[in-house]
Amino acid sequence: MTNNTVFPVKLRETSKFDSVDFNNLSFGSIFTDHMFICHYDKGSWNNPEIVPYAPITLEPSARVFHYGQAIFEGMKAFKDADANLWLFRPNDNHIRFNRSATRLAMPEVPQEIFIEGLNQLVRLEEKWVKHDHGASLYLRPFMIATEPAISAAPSKSYKFMILASPARTYYQGDVRVLIAEKFSRSADGGVGYAKAAGNYAAQFYPTALAQKKGLQQVIWTDSNSHEYIEEAGTMNIFFRIGDTLLTAPTSDHILDGITRKSVIQLADSLGIPVEVRPISVSEIKEAVKKNTLKEIFGSGTAAVINPICGFEHGGELFELSAEEDSYASMLKNKLMAIQRNTVPDPFNWRHLVP
Ligand code: COI
Repeated sequence: MTNNTVFPVKLRETSKFDSVDFNNLSFGSIFTDHMFICHYDKGSWNNPEIVPYAPITLEPSARVFHYGQAIFEGMKAFKDADANLWLFRPNDNHIRFNRSATRLAMPEVPQEIFIEGLNQLVRLEEKWVKHDHGASLYLRPFMIATEPAISAAPSKSYKFMILASPARTYYQGDVRVLIAEKFSRSADGGVGYAKAAGNYAAQFYPTALAQKKGLQQVIWTDSNSHEYIEEAGTMNIFFRIGDTLLTAPTSDHILDGITRKSVIQLADSLGIPVEVRPISVSEIKEAVKKNTLKEIFGSGTAAVINPICGFEHGGELFELSAEEDSYASMLKNKLMAIQRNTVPDPFNWRHLVP
């Protein structure tokens, strides 16, 4: 396969497009008319194609159901004022996808399949990519283990697929978080850095407990002491103390977020002091008391940059007052402008969909 690869396409007979209310999209619940699919067997990837979005058939013994051998990525496509289509740092997603694959004992997906699959699917579904502010086409590449066998061993067969879903915001309304004191998301030597499906499943129960208290998300802390901030599961986390932006270093516990590293580079280029270092919960609580904690925000593909207006820890709720000229909204606007091609891209992050 070359860069000009064209995969076979089976078109859907009638489009769902006209039945979709693009002004009221609940994140990740509507999918476009087509999906990309490719099968791994006997050591190679075969039959890449675009087909109508539809259920797939798997044997109940498929390993993914028993041992959770499943990984994914989150990406977005954007449309500019001239109807050009753009992906944001897709090669970074491809590299991270294969890192996750290696950790989960799954085969790597070649770049031509990953990138050309995205290009071709986005091009085919271009009418689903809205140009208006805040709109995007969320892309979900993923891989599952399909071999029908339940001995505890890696699968010999897999499916790699890409879904596309029109999107607007991920979080609605104010976001308050619980800083974890009991449960953990990841541990030394574990899979925290991978986009393994199980990393997300394991957060649902503690997050549901937090939600019962009126908190939308959990900020995970290190599993040894619960004293050092890690990430929020759907987002990496930034704190602004005074004028300095702080975020935890990536490690085998923390996802190497593509929005996270873009925020760091953007802030740096704007002359905002950035410290990437371990951040303790005591330091954050101390900063609230001294009134130097100005902002907390999360970064992620789906959430983009989402302010966090308060957190609970040790049974105490800490509220932040709204910051005028916040870093969060400034960085979000700059990032979105680059993604949508309304400003130059000095970082070379945009990828034009051919
Ligand atoms: C993303 O931001 O794309 C993610 O993968 C988070 C997901 C749980 C919505």
